[in-house]
Amino acid sequence: MKRILITGAGGQIGSWLVPRLRELYGEANVLATDVRHLGSDFADAGPFQVLDATDAKAVGECVMRHRPDTVYHLAAILSATGEKDPQLAWHVNMASLEAVLEVAREQHCAVFTPSSIGAFGHDTPKDPTPQDTIMRPATMYGITKVAGELLCDYYHTRYGVDTRGVRFPGLISYGAPPGGGTTDWAVDIYYKALSDGRYTCFLGPDSQLDMMYMPDAIDALIGVMEADADRLQHRNAFNVTAMQLTPTGLAAEIRKHIPHFEIDFEVDPVRQAIADSWPDRIDDSAAREEWDWSPSFDASAMTVDMLEHLNHND
Ligand code: NAD
Ligand code: SER
Repeated sequence: MKRILITGAGGQIGSWLVPRLRELYGEANVLATDVRHLGSDFADAGPFQVLDATDAKAVGECVMRHRPDTVYHLAAILSATGEKDPQLAWHVNMASLEAVLEVAREQHCAVFTPSSIGAFGHDTPKDPTPQDTIMRPATMYGITKVAGELLCDYYHTRYGVDTRGVRFPGLISYGAPPGGGTTDWAVDIYYKALSDGRYTCFLGPDSQLDMMYMPDAIDALIGVMEADADRLQHRNAFNVTAMQLTPTGLAAEIRKHIPHFEIDFEVDPVRQAIADSWPDRIDDSAAREEWDWSPSFDASAMTVDMLEHLNHND
């Protein structure tokens, strides 16, 4: 039976990952932690502890007490919030990863760390973006993601830590809101379509980015951690994607269900510049070949599911 520790568990991904891991491995074996006190719905649903993942001593004590064999390290500052306070983004993203990797080295834990399409930059080929390519990101978020990928590789080759990860595209979900990213528009649009029948988008109409529905992202997280280690050539930071979306294209998909839905645009130059530096379409063939990655949801199936759940106030 696995024992698991999750950092940053109260965020967009963690709020989906925690219940899924508890279903798979048993409630008592999955300790959710976050720097914030979370609501009673979350904190009472199973073991929960407040933990600042940048505090190496506290992370070490937590691991000694819970004795996990795997850490899912989700605590981070995302791209748009990171550009508002780059020093905070560097501190949180790097100090927390260093703390988790050090304790994993000492206590022999496997570590999952998500990277992002934000790890790519202007010099990267945009369509398709290869698995192994030029990575010179233009944001502090991206810089921490590239540094994190390299640090995870180092802990594997130097110390034998079983580090694994994927480069997620923008993730779309209901439930916990996204935490300040450039791809948040693709979540907000569904809420506003239902509440107001219209949405003002902060990216331009034709800005294309890779995206994925959260149930597929959770399958990717668990899939890469359970993959046969002998097949993995790219342990950290597999490109994974499910669809490519533009605001105009997703609006058209929503209009199939809400015909009066309208979209307009007030472009935010900071988030537009970030989006313009990211790929249009990443090539995820390495993940497909090395651990049989295959998403289930396209834009059409995702839209049906999102609207159905939001209509029922999930
Ligand atoms: P989120 O912002 O929704 O959640 C992050 C969580 O980390 C929050 O609950 C926050 O309270 C917590 N946190 C912040 N500082 C902390 C600290 N010092 N110690 C402990 N917890 C702390 O983010 P998310 O969308 O769930 O993303 C999780 C990871 O996945 C991040 O590494 C992110 O870069 C990556 N990722 C996310 C997406 C996406 O679209 N959501 C895409 C690519 C990669
Ligand atoms: N959704 C994330 C962001 O926009 C991608 O890493 O920051």
